[in-house]
Amino acid sequence: MNFSPVAAGTWRAGDWGLDAGGLAGWMSQALDLGITTFDHADIYGGYAVEAMFGAAFATSPGLRDRLQIVGKCGIKLVHSQRPGHAIKSYDSSRAHVLASVDASLQALRTDRLDLLLIHRPDLLMDPEELGETFRELLAAGKVLHFGLSNHTPGQLALLRRRHPLVTNQIEFSPLQMRALADGTLEQCVDLGLRPMLWSPLAGGRLLTGTDEQALRVRAVLQALGDARGVPVATMAYAWLMRHPSRPVPITGSGRLQALREAAAAVDVKISAEDWYRVWQASIGHQVP
Ligand SMILES: NC(=O)c1ccc[n+]([C@@H]2O[C@H](COP(=O)([O-])OP(=O)(O)OC[C@H]3O[C@@H](n4cnc5c(N)ncnc54)[C@H](OP(=O)(O)O)[C@@H]3O)[C@@H](O)[C@H]2O)c1
Repeated sequence: MNFSPVAAGTWRAGDWGLDAGGLAGWMSQALDLGITTFDHADIYGGYAVEAMFGAAFATSPGLRDRLQIVGKCGIKLVHSQRPGHAIKSYDSSRAHVLASVDASLQALRTDRLDLLLIHRPDLLMDPEELGETFRELLAAGKVLHFGLSNHTPGQLALLRRRHPLVTNQIEFSPLQMRALADGTLEQCVDLGLRPMLWSPLAGGRLLTGTDEQALRVRAVLQALGDARGVPVATMAYAWLMRHPSRPVPITGSGRLQALREAAAAVDVKISAEDWYRVWQASIGHQVP
């Protein structure tokens, strides 16, 4: 799986006010910035976002083959689009995963997902059955690579013994650093998996939050950014990418300028001491 240094997320795409042509334009502008990995999930927008992008691909022949699509399944929402779901739950059974992939391929108007992630840990996961399901999807050419999202190191190890995995997509930002402490990122380094990072700007709180932690971290990122002539968001992405697991942060914005600020982080160097300045501001005290 060839991730671009930064991936573009589509969770909020229903709020961007873009029609099919606008989304096609957004994708090609992202491609021009070197962002080729696009993060989707069946449930985004209440099972609507994939179809919006399918319509966008239809307006722009050839666009789909210039990028990688990351899909996710395994969360069942109670929704009019899925009348069979009686309660919100997780499902990693063969039947659910195969049906979800077929629905995603149809909505996205494509013949393959470059990467499929199990969105959340299914407490009833049968790793043998899921590994077998992955092999079946691979053999059919419907999915090229597999991974997990929001899984613990133990859950990932369990499945990885049954099928190769390329990522664990996890929450990580300068305001949410749990993955540094619970073994998730160490496991990625150990196994050579590149973690994908969701909510890298803490859902916007990093830039607009008025709580003490956000104010402290923003002040440090601002000072580091001023010294390099880059905005706070770029500095935050550079901080995330400094980790040895070579993370792939996922942007959340439909604005081209926000994509530019993310892509620019590739060229920003950050020393270990500066990295710890941000860590210290987030935790609120120096290292022991
Ligand atoms: N696997 C999972 O469980 C999971 C969970 C959540 C998300 N994700 C994925 O991760 C992606 C990113 O998550 P996220 O949307 O929470 O990311 P984020 O980048 O932390 O937050 C994006 C939000 O921050 C706002 N923002 C404010 N200033 C910004 C700036 N300078 N640059 C960029 N954004 C700014 C955006 O507003 P504007 O739109 O106005 O720019 C947007 O509302 C999602 O699209 C989805 O693909 C995965």
